[in-house]
Amino acid sequence: MVHAEMLARLLEARGTPVEALHRRPRHRRGATRGKYLNLLARGLVGADFFAVHMTWGAVNELTTLRFYGVIRSRTENALLKDVLRDVMAQEAVHYSFYRNVAIGRLTDNPRGQRIVRWALEHLWSPVGLGLRTRDDADRLARGIFEDRPELATQMDAQLNRIPGLADLNLVGSTVDAAVARRG
Ligand SMILES: [Fe+2]
Repeated sequence: MVHAEMLARLLEARGTPVEALHRRPRHRRGATRGKYLNLLARGLVGADFFAVHMTWGAVNELTTLRFYGVIRSRTENALLKDVLRDVMAQEAVHYSFYRNVAIGRLTDNPRGQRIVRWALEHLWSPVGLGLRTRDDADRLARGIFEDRPELATQMDAQLNRIPGLADLNLVGSTVDAAVARRG
C-alpha cells in the first residue's frame, strides 16, 4: 500500500489522479471477508496454512517485482525509474523472505505440498484482482507479459522449484487464460 500511495502521488503530480480503490466500502468489506476466510482456512488446514500463506506471498511478490521491472524498462520518466528501482529492491527482499520461509515449511512435508499446490491451482488469482475487475486483471496480464513469454517462463522456473509446485507453471497458464478470454 505504501508503494501504491507513492506511485499515486507521482501520477497526481503529473496531472493523472488515481483513485485509491481499496478505500471503497466494497473493498473494505472484501478485506474483512478475506480475514474471516483466512481464519476459517487456518482452522481447517492447521499448521500447513502458514506454508500456503508464504507460498502465495512469494508468488505475489515475484509477479509484482517483474511487473515493476517491465514498467521501469518502458518509461522514460527519470523520477519513476528511480522510484521503481527502490521499490523493486524492496520487493526483491519480500520475495526472497516469503520464498525461503515457504521452502522451509514445505521441505519433507508432503501434506503441506499437496495443500499448497491445490490452493494455488484452484484459489489463486493475480494480485490486485480483488481490487479490480477480471477484465482489468486480464488486460494487465496481457499488456505486461503477452509479448514477453520468456518472463513468464522464467518466473515459473523459479516458482516450480518450491517443493510441491513442480511443473505447475502458474504464471504462464494465467497469461494464457487471459489471452484466451480476450474479446
Ligand atoms: Fe511486496
